[in-house]
Amino acid sequence: MAEFRLPANSRISKNGKVHKAEGASRPKSFKVYRYDPDSGENPRYDNFEVDLDNCGPMVLDALIKIKSEQDSSLTFRRSCREGICGSCSMNINGTNTLACTKSIEECGGEVRITPLPHMEVIKDLVPDFKHFYAQYASIEPWLKTKTTTPSGKERLQSPEDRAKLDGLYECILCACCSTSCPSYWWNSDKFLGPAILLQAYRWLADSRDEFTGERLDELEDPFRLYRCHTIMNCANVCPKGLNPAKAIAETKKMVAERAI
Ligand code: SF4
Ligand code: SF4
Ligand code: FES
Repeated sequence: MAEFRLPANSRISKNGKVHKAEGASRPKSFKVYRYDPDSGENPRYDNFEVDLDNCGPMVLDALIKIKSEQDSSLTFRRSCREGICGSCSMNINGTNTLACTKSIEECGGEVRITPLPHMEVIKDLVPDFKHFYAQYASIEPWLKTKTTTPSGKERLQSPEDRAKLDGLYECILCACCSTSCPSYWWNSDKFLGPAILLQAYRWLADSRDEFTGERLDELEDPFRLYRCHTIMNCANVCPKGLNPAKAIAETKKMVAERAI
């Protein structure tokens, strides 16, 4: 349904706080989105000055330093700090990416950090992934078979078939792609979005999976699959260099080919 008033987490108040780094030899300014829905207050931007001569090289290093030294209430997700877990996805200077692999040096001027767009905010930079994970569960992301496993053996795969999973298995479910997709912004209740569709294709492409027909039946829907209009934001933004739009195109091809 069309919404003509900005959602609460988008109406920014002007009363942000300023935290100076006294005596910093190389100060850099970070403008960070702050929001606590339970407080009843509008979101604000706080400004934190960080001394780059005393900070690690990545945006996540700066956030950890801010939390440790300037404001322990700043809330964000992180775990692996090397682009593996997908926890630290956020919007940095207008682009969805991982804070742990985004170099501060690459960010010219003031660094503006907001949560992934078009998601409910739980607090500060932490979006609510409940719906995204429910969509992931809906595609049944595990190997499904009908035949019995060769006795005592694994289900083998040729190197060529294994190679078909390259560009798919590396997805870390960070949601940078889905939250940069205009179709997902407006139809995320029904459209699965690029991340989940790439994951769905990962099982369609797996030579060991025996539920290809049923999986295609589930996807063949004007909204779940066909809301992708090949705008390509997803491929441009993926911090792992993956191409969800291509996986979506391959899925559409499989649907079309089985109809012939
Ligand atoms: S395809 Fe890329 S951007 Fe999308 S969820 Fe996977 S890793 Fe993240
Ligand atoms: S190519 Fe499809 S899934 Fe990717 S951003 Fe565009 S509409 Fe969204
Ligand atoms: S902390 Fe794991 S991907 Fe950034």
